[in-house]
Amino acid sequence: MVSNEYPKDRQEIKEQLDTLSVDQNKVIFLVEESQLKNTVFSTINCYDEKTDRRVIWLASFAQYAKSAAMLGNVAECGVNCGEFAYYINKYFADKKLYLFDTFDGFASKDLEAERSLGERAFLESRFNTGDSFKVASLDIVKKRMPHLQKCEFHVGYFPASAEGIDDNFCFVNLDTDLYQPILAGLEFFFPKMVSGGVILVHDYFNSSLPGVQKAIVDFENKSGTRLHKFPIADYCSLAIVK
Ligand SMILES: C[S@@+](CC[C@H](N)C(=O)[O-])C[C@H]1O[C@@H](n2cnc3c(N)ncnc32)[C@H](O)[C@@H]1O
Repeated sequence: MVSNEYPKDRQEIKEQLDTLSVDQNKVIFLVEESQLKNTVFSTINCYDEKTDRRVIWLASFAQYAKSAAMLGNVAECGVNCGEFAYYINKYFADKKLYLFDTFDGFASKDLEAERSLGERAFLESRFNTGDSFKVASLDIVKKRMPHLQKCEFHVGYFPASAEGIDDNFCFVNLDTDLYQPILAGLEFFFPKMVSGGVILVHDYFNSSLPGVQKAIVDFENKSGTRLHKFPIADYCSLAIVK
């Protein structure tokens, strides 16, 4: 059984298995079997609650926000199969959770903009193929959420999918990987954050996604705001405190 989400990789695996004379009827590709995909991706979570540093950080921030009686709801921009969203929904059980995703991977206009930045690290990375995150589906995420009644799904291109939302936030996870939607996320959410609220920007320390750091610098310069930032020791995310 193979769970690789990249079509090119799957083709390569098929060819290798063929050279080894493995019967193709015995090979199951999870992402091509929609029923299996729904079952497996909605039950397995790759982030372990006891060892994943970002999840541990989130649990303590949620506890702190509660004890400080922090107002505002919560959101995730870039949900994919909802593995981190599961924990946001679990730890902020009494808050409304807004979930934004195309549920169809990166938008081609965002990919074009990313390529035009000319960063070799991105151009040579697996993210540049355009195949990334195509396996996610709304069904998978809905099955996973522990408090589905608190979730509001905004399916489609962000920021257009956020039009008309007038709310405040105490926690937002920005995890859309690319320059355009990260910048749009900061522009949309930062003014709506309550005092002490946090925007967590994933992939800040991911050298394959240099657009994330650039979006933060450009947001600071465009808005004339000096952000309060600190790493959360997961070697990947940067917290921005309002
Ligand atoms: C790295 S994945 C998110 C991972 C997820 N936070 C988790 O915990 O597993 C990035 C997601 O951002 C979404 N995305 C990227 N750009 C977007 C945009 N402009 N609008 C909506 N969704 C977008 C992709 O569809 C993809 O599902």
